[in-house]
Amino acid sequence: MKPAPKTFHVKSFGCQMNVYDGERMAELMAAQGMIATAAGEADLVVLNTCHIRERATEKVYSDIGRLRKDARKVGRDPMIAVAGCVAQAEGAEIVARAKVDVVVGPQAYHNLPGLVAQAAAGQAALDTDMPLASKFGRLPARRRVGPSAFLTVQEGCDKFCTYCVVPYTRGAEISRPFAAIVDEARALVDAGAREITLLGQNVNAWTDGAEEHNRRGLHDLIRDLDRIPGLSRIRYTTSHPNDMTQGLIDAHGDVESLMPFLHLPVQSGSTRILKAMNRSHGRDDYLRLLDRVRAVRPDIALSGDFIVGFPRETSDDFADTLSLVDAVGYAQAFSFKYSPRPGTPAADMDDEVPEAVMDERLQALQAALGRDQQAFNRASVGRTCTVLIERPGKLPGQMLGKSPWLQSVHVMGDHTIGDLVEVELTAAGPVSLSGRVRRLLAA
Ligand code: SAH
Ligand code: SF4
Ligand code: F3S
Repeated sequence: MKPAPKTFHVKSFGCQMNVYDGERMAELMAAQGMIATAAGEADLVVLNTCHIRERATEKVYSDIGRLRKDARKVGRDPMIAVAGCVAQAEGAEIVARAKVDVVVGPQAYHNLPGLVAQAAAGQAALDTDMPLASKFGRLPARRRVGPSAFLTVQEGCDKFCTYCVVPYTRGAEISRPFAAIVDEARALVDAGAREITLLGQNVNAWTDGAEEHNRRGLHDLIRDLDRIPGLSRIRYTTSHPNDMTQGLIDAHGDVESLMPFLHLPVQSGSTRILKAMNRSHGRDDYLRLLDRVRAVRPDIALSGDFIVGFPRETSDDFADTLSLVDAVGYAQAFSFKYSPRPGTPAADMDDEVPEAVMDERLQALQAALGRDQQAFNRASVGRTCTVLIERPGKLPGQMLGKSPWLQSVHVMGDHTIGDLVEVELTAAGPVSLSGRVRRLLAA
């Protein structure tokens, strides 16, 4: 038995939604009167985990080990709670393997305070339910956030790509109600946000659930949020090619606060592999879709996710991925080696690609993506754009912000976090730009 914790620390390991969940768990504990502190001093450490690839999952166990060891050295024995997608996927197994005090899934974390109390009373505390009633209504209101904030509008996934655990760890696709989202967006702006990134595993599948003839989609939500005074920038992620409606494409043409950036994962450039992945779109569908987006917003920055070494991927398939990358010219992208995940259909597929081949392909892909990112950054030099100041830079007097195209931009001068400034981009490095501030647009 451990005493009821007075201090806590939340550590998030996963995607942006996982980070959002971490913030909301922290707010929930703070609302219970607990005080946020560093991991080494906290009575309760919440590990908010990710299950997407094997390495992410294994990291949880090594982290628990390290946490215990460090604590023991100074005579401490903190309560450990495992939250997030590993909690959902492994449940009681984590308690058996790592003897943690609390396990709570991503749809049940509104119950965290109760579970912590249960653990303090010496009882097993595990909740991986996926209740129909959403957790969101039972979380405290947002109070203080940075200039750029996340807002989950949609959760879960019905797509069942053959390699992916998300449909199992996050459950079926659900959309939060329109009014609840608008309320939270207003609260975020009141709490200091000037930019909001709408989050969903398939964010563009967001719907208000009405009858088909008057059903609203993500673009309607964006158009409504665009009217909130003080909200200068709207972004959304992650979108799925099949849910990219004409309405959403059109919004990129005429909603000023909607930033010219689209993260649209494709995973592979080979239609054969896309089929084996159950992506339900081919290479050409994807390329045609991007043409339509670029037709309304020619300067849009494109981003994607790629998996190399999916079972049966041949060198021809991989060449198709490289040629798709060439055709698109991504402003940035994420790429991963395929990781077989327990319980997914792909984990049972034969003809695995050898590790060394995967390494080689990943390297070649990352070189191509790096080259394109640099080219995109170089082409931005000379442009004048808005930059939202997010934090101090490394050099004295330097501040760091983001361009509309999600590039990191360094500027010098006396600016405050949250300022929106007009900047002339003057130089490009491989992953960031420098610029000269012309004027302050909003403080
Ligand atoms: N819903 C999003 C992605 C969520 S997971 C979408 O469909 O685009 C984020 C990324 O992790 C995926 O786009 C994919 O590139 C990668 N990923 C997912 N499962 C993986 C696996 N088993 N091995 C390697 N990468 C994986
Ligand atoms: Fe995973 Fe595919 Fe769903 Fe994205 S769309 S979360 S990759 S199953
Ligand atoms: Fe990881 Fe779960 Fe996000 S598996 S990527 S934390 S949805």
